[in-house]
Amino acid sequence: MAREKWASKLGFMLAAMGSAVGLGNIWRFSYVAGESGGGAFLLLYLVFVLLIGIPLLLSEVSIGRKAQSDVVGAYKEIAPGTPWYLTGFFGVISSFLILSFYGVVAGWSIYYFWNYVNGQLFTSPAGGYGAAFEGFIGHAWHPIGWHAFFMILTILIVYNGVKKGIEAANKVFMPTLAVLLVALAIYSLTLEGAAEGLAFLFQPDWSALSKPSIYLAALGQAFFSLSLGMGAMLTYGSYLSKENKLPSATVGIGLMDTFFAIVSGIMIFPAVFAFGIQPSSGPPLAFITLPSIFEQMPLGGFVGIVFFFSLALASLSSSVSILEVPVAYFMRVFKWSRHFTSVITGMVMFVLGLAVSLGMGVWSGITPIGDNNILDSMDYIASNILLPLGGLSMALFVGWYLTKDQALEASDMTRLPLGPVWLTIVKYVAPVMIILIFLNALGFIG
Ligand code: PFF
Repeated sequence: MAREKWASKLGFMLAAMGSAVGLGNIWRFSYVAGESGGGAFLLLYLVFVLLIGIPLLLSEVSIGRKAQSDVVGAYKEIAPGTPWYLTGFFGVISSFLILSFYGVVAGWSIYYFWNYVNGQLFTSPAGGYGAAFEGFIGHAWHPIGWHAFFMILTILIVYNGVKKGIEAANKVFMPTLAVLLVALAIYSLTLEGAAEGLAFLFQPDWSALSKPSIYLAALGQAFFSLSLGMGAMLTYGSYLSKENKLPSATVGIGLMDTFFAIVSGIMIFPAVFAFGIQPSSGPPLAFITLPSIFEQMPLGGFVGIVFFFSLALASLSSSVSILEVPVAYFMRVFKWSRHFTSVITGMVMFVLGLAVSLGMGVWSGITPIGDNNILDSMDYIASNILLPLGGLSMALFVGWYLTKDQALEASDMTRLPLGPVWLTIVKYVAPVMIILIFLNALGFIG
């Protein structure tokens, strides 16, 4: 059977943007920035996105398009008989880790959406939004039902294939989300805490830079948010034909993703200060601040409906790209059908996610890494370790395994003046920076 393809370059762009923009921009960005000191974190994050993220995004998509294969198969295709394909397994493992917690958090978004539809969250529940949220996620089986529902939606889209499923869905999701986020950010600026919130986000407290963990946190966030290092962009790139030019597409995807992160920061931090919430409150941050803003707004209940609907859609357009990574791999290796593979893989991810969901309540005493619960630990391993390692191997592959001409040709950079700059980044700058950040976090330097 012929390999699937996007119907158009725009379809690819929207799907890739759909993959990049998701819970990472709103939920994860805001709480990681809040925990890591705000402005200094934002600055590092921006530097990493521009200096490492976007150039590596181009490398990742180029590998996929050149190989026309999945994250493991791509290396076997381009570098047969070498052990490079082993690095593809970072991607497959990360996809299981990430989707198992991503599905849980996306389930929370759908629950919020539903509670706006039925009016429950229009006004603050007894005990406040914070307590209501903790009560919900700590419940033994309520969140699991919503998680299951989200995973079924994800499986259905992947089940329907590249064009009719993934591409069609993203064409509707992305524009809706953009309009809403900008409108909410503007509203948030009118809140009483706006100045304080903006100062937290945009005025770096330089002393935060002396903590080694902030560098790894910013790097992990850049990778997570750009869907980088896991093979999602590689797999999406593998459904592209040679005639689509990559450099402008990847820069567009990277900038759009960054725009969404900054806009959600502008939306969330004023509210954090206006409602006296701790910026470092961790994963619940967005789920507590946003309903607090909506409650104050005219027509806030309606805004809540539309917002959580869009957030659920944005999560869905990302989760399909996560599921597609192992699905494309298993379909090729085991020669299974798309239908069978998407259902089985999605179900395994759901089961893994049960541990994450229970880890917010009955299993909250289980802390695999430091004092991090199951969700935070899985996220830490995937985002701060596996994704940067995956990205590092892609950079080394394009920079060192491919010849200069092959690398420039694979990325459509041959005739562009920025070609040599890009290659220098991929070959030297990005690998050195990633390695230094790892060593720094491990305490070897600094
Ligand atoms: N980029 C997505 C987000 O910001 O929500 C999450 C994600 C998707 C991470 C795909 C990794 C990935 F491969």
